[in-house]
Amino acid sequence: MLDEVTAVRDSGLQRIELATSLDEIDRLDAELLGKKGAFASFKTSLASLATVDEKKAAGQALNAAAATITGAIGARRVVLAAAERTRVLAAERLDLTEELTAPRRGHAHLVTQAWERLEDVFIGLGFQVAEGPEVETDFYNFEALNMPRSHPARSGFDTLFTDYRDDGSVLLRTHTSPVQIRVMQTVEPPIYMIMPGRVFRRDTPDATHMPVFHQIEGLVIDRDITMAHLAGTIDAFTKAFFGGAFTSRLRPNYFPFTEPSAEFDIQRPDGTWIELGGCGMVHPNVLRAGGLDPEQWSGFAFGFGIDRMARERHGVEDIRDMYSNDIRFVEQF
Ligand code: DAH
Repeated sequence: MLDEVTAVRDSGLQRIELATSLDEIDRLDAELLGKKGAFASFKTSLASLATVDEKKAAGQALNAAAATITGAIGARRVVLAAAERTRVLAAERLDLTEELTAPRRGHAHLVTQAWERLEDVFIGLGFQVAEGPEVETDFYNFEALNMPRSHPARSGFDTLFTDYRDDGSVLLRTHTSPVQIRVMQTVEPPIYMIMPGRVFRRDTPDATHMPVFHQIEGLVIDRDITMAHLAGTIDAFTKAFFGGAFTSRLRPNYFPFTEPSAEFDIQRPDGTWIELGGCGMVHPNVLRAGGLDPEQWSGFAFGFGIDRMARERHGVEDIRDMYSNDIRFVEQF
């Protein structure tokens, strides 16, 4: 029996040394040291030995051989596990050299692109650009625009108020029109100005609404300005921005800050119309709020949504996509 134990131990050691995977080691472990393994059956046959001394000698040899095998299996496991880890690391290594040599360039957001193009077009028509604050007072956002406290048109603007003063006199501007007043108060006419910016309304986001969006306001103040100048400017803008095949029209409407007021639409080459924004002749009360004499100066104003233009231009169906920061969407423009 001692010879047999020695033979199993030596062949076991050899196979352990030759094993190339952790799976193979596990199999050898079971085969040699497991419940039904070679050493277990040696142990069973100890009982059949004749003398106590023989049993003792064989038992000690068996334990020594099992300990040798256990040690060899443990040592081989460590070596194979390290090799396995090196292999996995090599396989999962990321090749970043392409990123280093060819960095991907980002680009301006869809709305920023439309904003900048709108500025370009109006600058080309002789306008200047002005901006105003996003947090406004009731005076600039409503009062000076001919909408006193009780004016029903205020309810059309779902206003977000700040708690800076609890009387509702400080708010997030609901449109870019208040910048008209700030411009009139600070710039000597003649004024040919556009005022792009971010505006806020208490709206739940859906496919066509966001609580934060962008508008561009236009204001012209000069002597003897008429509705014809307004219509001509809108049409020149339409052709410059959308292309020569587009036309525009004005439809009567009501805004508190202009009189007369109109809605302006543009016509696509396929004959369909899109409603774009509001416009009109600046109301005498608004001129007065801006510090101008309505007997001396007249003018027109217009305002429309920038997000809407971007959506129209690129055929984006859901305005929320424009703000989801999903690279698969953003990359397309
Ligand atoms: N402020 C208006 C709005 O947000 C849009 C507008 C209409 C602006 C007529 C104007 C205008 O300057 O003349 O609905």
